[in-house]
Amino acid sequence: MGEPLRILVLHGPNLNLLGTREPEIYGRTTLDEIGRGLEEQAAKAGAELRCFQSNHEGVLIDQIQEARSWADGILLNPGGLTHTSVALRDALAGVGIPTVEVHLSNVFAREEFRRHSLVSPVALGIVSGFGADSYRLGLDALLRRLQG
Ligand code: DQA
Repeated sequence: MGEPLRILVLHGPNLNLLGTREPEIYGRTTLDEIGRGLEEQAAKAGAELRCFQSNHEGVLIDQIQEARSWADGILLNPGGLTHTSVALRDALAGVGIPTVEVHLSNVFAREEFRRHSLVSPVALGIVSGFGADSYRLGLDALLRRLQG
């Protein structure tokens, strides 16, 4: 077996509140629980994960830039920055690391302003609307793509 695939799991603003934040929209699963599930999934697939959450755009961009030195792929829920951040999109385009965009909620079934993502055009694909399962499905798709 070769080197394990290494994945950065990146969560944007307010996702630290998962579990208590608008549970009717985002569910009751906490970010820690999501992280543990992804760790288990990655271990079974022989991959390694680093999970990171920040409420700060620049900190997320630093993580994306640093990922150039170690990550094979990025699983990203940009939170509200999905709909606003040219800088986050530029960072992803700049590093060129294959990225899957995930959302717990179905952003296309919500307010008009959530229907547009600045990130999607630079992502491999998007998984939206399956709650915590969006991450599981997104990681699976990312690993399959990276395994070629
Ligand atoms: C979200 C959807 C965004 O519109 C929102 O701002 C979030 C969470 C989701 O996972 O459904 O913070 O990315």
